[in-house]
Amino acid sequence: MGTFGTAKSRRVAVITGASSGFGSEFARLFASDGVDVVLVARRTSLLKKLANELRKKYDINVYVYSYDLSKTENINKLYKAIMRKKLRVYYLVNNAGFGEYGLFDTLLEEKVASMISVNVAALTLLTHLFLPQMRRRKCGYILNVASTAAFVSGPFMAEYFATKAYVVSFSEALHQEYASYGVAVTALCPGPSKTGFVDNSGIDKLEFFNGNLPLAKDVAKFGYSAMLQNKPIVIYGKKNKNAAILSRLLPRSFVRNQTLKLMQPRK
Ligand SMILES: NC(=O)c1ccc[n+]([C@@H]2O[C@H](COP(=O)([O-])OP(=O)(O)OC[C@H]3O[C@@H](n4cnc5c(N)ncnc54)[C@H](OP(=O)(O)O)[C@@H]3O)[C@@H](O)[C@H]2O)c1
Repeated sequence: MGTFGTAKSRRVAVITGASSGFGSEFARLFASDGVDVVLVARRTSLLKKLANELRKKYDINVYVYSYDLSKTENINKLYKAIMRKKLRVYYLVNNAGFGEYGLFDTLLEEKVASMISVNVAALTLLTHLFLPQMRRRKCGYILNVASTAAFVSGPFMAEYFATKAYVVSFSEALHQEYASYGVAVTALCPGPSKTGFVDNSGIDKLEFFNGNLPLAKDVAKFGYSAMLQNKPIVIYGKKNKNAAILSRLLPRSFVRNQTLKLMQPRK
């Protein structure tokens, strides 16, 4: 992939959750392929720092939008801002998301509400807003960041796991629906990985979230390549893939009990 024409006709990738983790790595991958990037998240200073890095290193345009995607009105504001600049969005990476570990009723109400807004609603609405131009051009790529959490139910992270099950189901359906319109839709399912997610979700208390976790850049590279190949659902890492397959073959009660053992708070 090379650079594409003048500023207005250049291909653009919108990346949510670009201030850290996988999102920053996706931005680096698009930039290194000569694609202009729109970086979206709340932490402006991190976005600006990444924007400077990319502008210095690559001959691309970088746009920074600091928005809290848990608020629906911000999704429309973001879309309108991108449209005002007449950017041609060929790629949408719905990556912003977070989880929260703990007994469900003890989680803060605000977090409970915003988890659905960010992980599910924002992803769905942005897809809905950017699909028409991709369909018209018969060219577009949507990469939705799900998780291996999508394949099982997750005690002590019930809501997070459920949001990711939605992402896989939604993405898989769109993958089929838009295949004949030239739009690729992929769900990326990482397992536990080294990003801000671990610190922010409180899941670092669990053993399987410690130790030698995959790096964000390796997971992002894997997802980026799957998106370009229009793969429907991809799971990072052999162990994660085997676990996802087994969870479909083994009795549900067995899977439930095994997941509980993994997710239970340490005494
Ligand atoms: N790391 C893992 O183990 C793992 C495994 C499977 C799936 N995932 C998924 O991977 C995706 C990326 O997370 P990560 O692992 O890279 O963790 P991360 O480093 O914490 O990144 C999360 C990103 O989402 C953004 N974000 C969160 N809430 C937001 C909001 N209300 N509005 C706008 N942006 C928001 C954050 O930006 P600001 O804070 O600046 O807003 C940040 O850029 C998430 O969807 C996560 O569920 C992670």
